[in-house]
Amino acid sequence: MVQRFVDRVALVTGAASGIGKAIALNLAQEGADVVAADKNAAGVQATCRDIEKMGRKALPYEVDVAQFAQLGKLVQAAIDRFGKIHVLMNVAGISPKETFLTCTEALWDRTHDINLKSYMFLSQAVAPHMIKQKDGRIVSIASSAGEVVYPNLGPYYHTSKAGVIQLTRYMAQELAPHGIRVNAIGPGLIETPMTEETRRNEAVMTPLRARVPMKRWGKPEEIARVALFLASDDASYVTGETLFVDGGLLTLV
Ligand SMILES: NC(=O)c1ccc[n+]([C@@H]2O[C@H](COP(=O)([O-])OP(=O)(O)OC[C@H]3O[C@@H](n4cnc5c(N)ncnc54)[C@H](O)[C@@H]3O)[C@@H](O)[C@H]2O)c1
Repeated sequence: MVQRFVDRVALVTGAASGIGKAIALNLAQEGADVVAADKNAAGVQATCRDIEKMGRKALPYEVDVAQFAQLGKLVQAAIDRFGKIHVLMNVAGISPKETFLTCTEALWDRTHDINLKSYMFLSQAVAPHMIKQKDGRIVSIASSAGEVVYPNLGPYYHTSKAGVIQLTRYMAQELAPHGIRVNAIGPGLIETPMTEETRRNEAVMTPLRARVPMKRWGKPEEIARVALFLASDDASYVTGETLFVDGGLLTLV
């Protein structure tokens, strides 16, 4: 296996489950030491045990990314342990299911705090360390819902993910002179705990799957591999981009 992240330190949010866990494990497989952050303490402990079994170092960190004051402490804990951060993966997210007519202000705020505002302020807390080393890679998980509408997901989910796409472009142009690349991924339908309920509902599932040209859902691993590509030197001239990884979903009207 290629080892693109030897002597590299990566901070991954949402690392207890699904896409974030797959990214954390793949980074470790390719040589990185990993700070695994999530509000699920037991989940990050489990991720870190798997990482240590691969012979890499891991720091489990329990955090609610919507508590913005905690984000600076998370970054400081990573620096105290490893001295540097080369890669930031913004992955933590929620997708509560309400409609435009039933969405409350609290739900709107909570979704934007976790899915968008935490990406902004965690990136801002990490950036000075990347600027100091003149090298950094930030990858954020947006969604195909940042581009098209899924009627069964709330309006706030769509606006938060569309925000991630624009935040990515904004950060990319401001941070490029400092040697930092910033990209995003727009996953389509991926088999994770977040989508378990939907996948159990055949009435929703059948038409959704039919819309995917590849006629299947994606695996977390298939998002992780693209995330590692974007964070690696293989993507040395890619910045400000959102790469949709969706089995062709966005090609259809
Ligand atoms: N699964 C899909 O089909 C899909 C599609 C497009 C985008 N995404 C995005 O991918 C990302 C990962 O989702 P997933 O599918 O792996 O879901 P998941 O539910 O398996 O993982 C999400 C993780 O985020 C963590 N998290 C949630 N709120 C948090 C908070 N306040 N503080 C810290 N951690 C928190 C959860 O504990 C969980 O470990 C999300 O941003 C999601 O919106 C998923």
